[in-house]
Amino acid sequence: MTAMRIIRTKDYDAMSAAAARLIAAQITLKPNCVLGLATGSSPVGAYQNLIAWNKAGELDFSQVRSVNLDEYAGLTPDHDQSYAYFMRHNLFDHVNIDQKNTNVPSGVNGDEECERYDKLIADFGGIDLQLLGLGVNGHIGFNEPDDHFSLGTHKVTLTESTREANKRFFTSIDEVPTHAYTMGVRDILQARRVVMVASGANKAQAIKDAFFGPVTPQVPASILQYHPDFILVADEEALSLI
Ligand code: GLP
Repeated sequence: MTAMRIIRTKDYDAMSAAAARLIAAQITLKPNCVLGLATGSSPVGAYQNLIAWNKAGELDFSQVRSVNLDEYAGLTPDHDQSYAYFMRHNLFDHVNIDQKNTNVPSGVNGDEECERYDKLIADFGGIDLQLLGLGVNGHIGFNEPDDHFSLGTHKVTLTESTREANKRFFTSIDEVPTHAYTMGVRDILQARRVVMVASGANKAQAIKDAFFGPVTPQVPASILQYHPDFILVADEEALSLI
């Protein structure tokens, strides 16, 4: 029996508004909360809602702390395809968050970054709300299909399908990094609440496999079936196979 809740929305904009309301509620209830944040095209609309509410004076980020899921190995924070850059561009530069309280794993710190990042999350007292997207192969963060579930932050080899899916942001596939650093599945599961956004027909199979099939490390998101407070916010196209 899963504790999963599904918020079904008409389209991407409605999904974004619904997810943003959950995040805003978290910030309102606990102004110094720890948000686990995600990149990719799925959360951008939610971030735009949060920016609008912040500009309207309805939502205060001044005490919020954040930890992002992942970063490409080898990219510095000023690289325009790094996830650190993405977060500044899509959220942090536009709200009153203290940038010192924002954290993205470093892609250039070497393997010691993994231990540092997990300690940072622990020192924060864990994550209050983790926002996730969903890879077309069922990955979360950059936790790719595997024969076991990962634990803490670690370095991964990206699958060809993930590099292919993300090449639209680079000038050619050769420029897409081959490795990344990502929070582990255990880190994600330890978040007190998990919210996933998914939109579009290309996510429909992954949603079916992850949440209406067996829990297996071959579909990393499937472990969320065991999370006690997991909310899937998805539009009609993404839910079209279930
Ligand atoms: C990347 C990110 C994931 C994200 C996924 C889906 O691989 N590492 O965190 O969920 O892409 O991206 P999109 O939302 O653009 O489909």
